[in-house]
Amino acid sequence: MKKIAVFISDKGTGSNLDAIIEAIHKKKIRNGKIVVVVSNKKDALGLNIAKKAGIQTIIRDLSEYKRKGKSRNEYDDDLGKFVKKKFQPDLIVLAGWMLILSGNFIKYFPNRIMNLHPGLLPDGDEDFVTLRDGKKIKAIRGLHTDAAVQYAIDHHFPVTGSTVHFITEKVDQGPVIIRSEVRIMADDTVGRLYERMKKEEHNILPKAINLFCEGKIGDKNGDDGKMKILIIGSGGREHALAWRFSQSKKVSKIFCAPGNPGTKKIAQNVEISSSDIDGLLRFAKKEKIDLTFVGPEAPLIAGIADLFQKNDLKIIGPRKNAAAIEGSKVFAKKLMLKYKIPTGEFAIFDDYKYAREFLKTQKYPLVIKAEGQCFGKGVAVCKNSLEAQSFLKDVMVRKIFGDEGKRVLVEEYLCGQEISFMVVTDGFNFVSLLPSQDHKKINDKDKGPNTGGMGAYAPVPFLHKKLLKRIEKDIVRPTIEALRKEGCLYEGILYPGLILTDEGPKVLEFNCRFGDPETQPLMMLLKNDLMEICQAILAKKVKNLKLAWQKGAAVCVVLSSKGYPGKYRKGDVVKGLDSADLDNHLSVFHSGTKEEKGKILTNSGRVLGVTGKGSNLAKAMKLTYGNIGKKVIHFSGMHYRKDIGLKGLEESLWE
Ligand code: GAR
Repeated sequence: MKKIAVFISDKGTGSNLDAIIEAIHKKKIRNGKIVVVVSNKKDALGLNIAKKAGIQTIIRDLSEYKRKGKSRNEYDDDLGKFVKKKFQPDLIVLAGWMLILSGNFIKYFPNRIMNLHPGLLPDGDEDFVTLRDGKKIKAIRGLHTDAAVQYAIDHHFPVTGSTVHFITEKVDQGPVIIRSEVRIMADDTVGRLYERMKKEEHNILPKAINLFCEGKIGDKNGDDGKMKILIIGSGGREHALAWRFSQSKKVSKIFCAPGNPGTKKIAQNVEISSSDIDGLLRFAKKEKIDLTFVGPEAPLIAGIADLFQKNDLKIIGPRKNAAAIEGSKVFAKKLMLKYKIPTGEFAIFDDYKYAREFLKTQKYPLVIKAEGQCFGKGVAVCKNSLEAQSFLKDVMVRKIFGDEGKRVLVEEYLCGQEISFMVVTDGFNFVSLLPSQDHKKINDKDKGPNTGGMGAYAPVPFLHKKLLKRIEKDIVRPTIEALRKEGCLYEGILYPGLILTDEGPKVLEFNCRFGDPETQPLMMLLKNDLMEICQAILAKKVKNLKLAWQKGAAVCVVLSSKGYPGKYRKGDVVKGLDSADLDNHLSVFHSGTKEEKGKILTNSGRVLGVTGKGSNLAKAMKLTYGNIGKKVIHFSGMHYRKDIGLKGLEESLWE
């Protein structure tokens, strides 16, 4: 049970003290009790509340101190020493304490003094706060109670609110625990606005105290400070992420929901589907997960980040309004049009008849896309009008993708190399990952139908520095800024799928998460601790994030089941997993396997991603392909492309 000392003063009403007492009573604060209430004056209203609840109180009046000729420093020192010795509190909560406490007090309780501040404070020491919608307002520091509320009104802030934070010696600074925003109405008075703010305070202060009492924040009292991670998803991407997290010194335990037989070796799989976001929330709360990493797009588009954040759980991935950049192709296209982000020409249709007529007037080839998420299948490159009319009918009349095909986009067909360009962003700054190249078609030389991705390699040798800078300047930065301006602050991994046309790089589509299979080679080459990247996103410190990569290249070749991407076979035994050359140059990431009686069986279209690295692309390909085949990794009906990485080799020859 954590011991809490609450500090109040004669300037407050004691309502937050009351809220803490009630939260303890209602078990909203589960592992804490108040051992003392400290006040600066004997007539502070909160003292009556404390006495009524049977809590011991003490008064330390600064003016009496000064009368005796003692200094402010002595006051702070005596107060800290006394409270520590007599009550040994684990946590000091300043709930309306109006004196600024100096280092002479703080030294007795490092990282254990929480303050409630009636204004919004930033995560760092900047002078502005980033609101949830991405807009910025000035931080209100050095003012208390009504004065802070008055300031927000006088300066026409759209929003104000309260912040719970750990204190440092700098006034109203230090790590933020929870912030709550309160919208300011045109006819607000200080009284009316403050009343709404207080309501929020009575919610966030007990919440912050509970986080401390449960050991989730602050000085962890002997805890090793390592974190419990939950990875959502079950593919090769998630296996690769789990593998990298398992190498982090900052991670104590990894859960994968639902995971696969590959992740089972390095994490604990839990049987919750990635679409069951309420179930995932319940699990994260129960297990006290410190950080959740979302692999696939569907839960992000459904709003898992919003839900977790509302419940004070840390999560990596954009909120629903920003994930729409992948969820709605129309949203993405309109955004690009408005902010002049280079992309192919397009037209949007809700009406089948208009679309049908339009297709009669177009040049071919062209591209038709169903608006919603169709698991990579809602896109067709149509060579002629006949093909276009037939696909349009499938989508809008026969509704083969259901409601996802209510709207279609007809797009210009663009020619060139396709590139996966992923960046880490906190909504303001970004760092680019190594560019990579996916292979969507089932067969060599990009022949046959589309798949989820048959292999990838990184880096892309022909994407030289100048081009990379151009992509960052013309595409990535304007997209992140556009989203922010639209009130959709984007935090997480942003992945524009690009095409390098003769006119320059253009966006084919946006994804709101890591690519699969591109993540597999990237994780092989990344030197940084993955946790460091997550922490930079959460703390909005991507500006200071430096990524380091191993020299050379990595290649992931996907092994697929017979028949994929059509109807495919399941249940074939995967052989050679033990005999593969597994060392730190080769990893086999599972994506569609299951384990039965100690054997690994094929269980989906894309089964495994054999991923190797080498000092150059050719060597990485040699190692990877050398581990696929009859004497090494194989299964009956196994299919794979033999040319993953070849474009990198060929293109770089004439670059
Ligand atoms: C709270 O609104 C808190 O934000 C503010 O004092 C009030 C105490 O209210 N704190 C500060 O101004 C600190 N600078 P209460 O006595 O009704 O709980």
